[in-house]
Amino acid sequence: MMIEQLEQIKSEFIENINNVTSNKELEILRVKYFSRNGIISVLFDKLKEVPKENKREIGKNLNELKKFTYSLFEQKKKDIELKYSSISTRIDLTLPPSQIKLGTKHILNQTLEEIKNIFKSMGFSVFEGPELESDYYNFEALNFPSDHPARDMQDTFFINKNFLLRTHTSPVQIRVMEKMNPPVRAIMPGRVYRNEAINARSYCTFQQVEGLYVDKDVTFAELKGTLVSFAKQFYGEDLRYRFRPSFFPFTEPSAEMDITCFLCKGEGCKVCKYAGWLEILGCGMVDPNVFNYVNYDAEEYIGYAFGMGIERIALLKYGINDIRLFFENDIRFLTQF
Ligand code: PHE
Repeated sequence: MMIEQLEQIKSEFIENINNVTSNKELEILRVKYFSRNGIISVLFDKLKEVPKENKREIGKNLNELKKFTYSLFEQKKKDIELKYSSISTRIDLTLPPSQIKLGTKHILNQTLEEIKNIFKSMGFSVFEGPELESDYYNFEALNFPSDHPARDMQDTFFINKNFLLRTHTSPVQIRVMEKMNPPVRAIMPGRVYRNEAINARSYCTFQQVEGLYVDKDVTFAELKGTLVSFAKQFYGEDLRYRFRPSFFPFTEPSAEMDITCFLCKGEGCKVCKYAGWLEILGCGMVDPNVFNYVNYDAEEYIGYAFGMGIERIALLKYGINDIRLFFENDIRFLTQF
């Protein structure tokens, strides 16, 4: 081994290290020179073979070579680290952040709020009642005697003989009248339950808004006027509607209000069962028998009541063709509103 050989290794190393640009290349170089079988280690092994008289000088040079190359290696390592960490200094801190996705109010809550606001502006106050109801409030006091066939109109989830999940919000009428003397002008929103087959048009639970107005001279014309005014504020002035005679045990006379089908615009289609119309609410003049249950003088007072399904009202406004979409919480549906 000659001094010249060491000089050559040194200049080769310098050339090599100058070409290194990545950690990967640096590692290859480390293995080539500094690993157990690397060039430098092998030179140390070979020192044994060097004649005695040269050993000192060559050993000294070899040590210097090792120190020198290793310090270049360490320096390169730092340079590369710096180069990569300096990427962070290239991040543009003035860029606006990516949008944080906030939740939105569920379309049914938006609809309910709109309905409430319209009725509040017409002088109605808001009341609520329990979802677990007694037979008395859900049926009896609403003039459904226990053997009355009208109980079949609403498939009921019974908890036991006396308690059930309310099938409509009408029991809240009774609760409000028990607590207040006329005049009463109230709306009563809430969840109701029916043991019905689930399909595109009906679900086992939905929401209703009940309405009640009791005073000394309330007329059916006022009932119609109030509902038409509501519907026009909600759906727009050019709304087409109709009232049909109907039956409810707690109103007499009774009616249902239809509006034109949103899908076919009255032409007739699957959603409206080819009628061109869709029912949005039931209504009527409070049956005097109901007043007897709450100790209102049926000779002195008269009233009207109505009940509408919020899901149905929203379906018609937004052209949604399946009620189940409201309950599935699919983000692709919810974010459209
Ligand atoms: N409670 C009735 C229903 O759920 C609707 C209704 C309310 C009808 C008030 C008349 C008066 O079908």
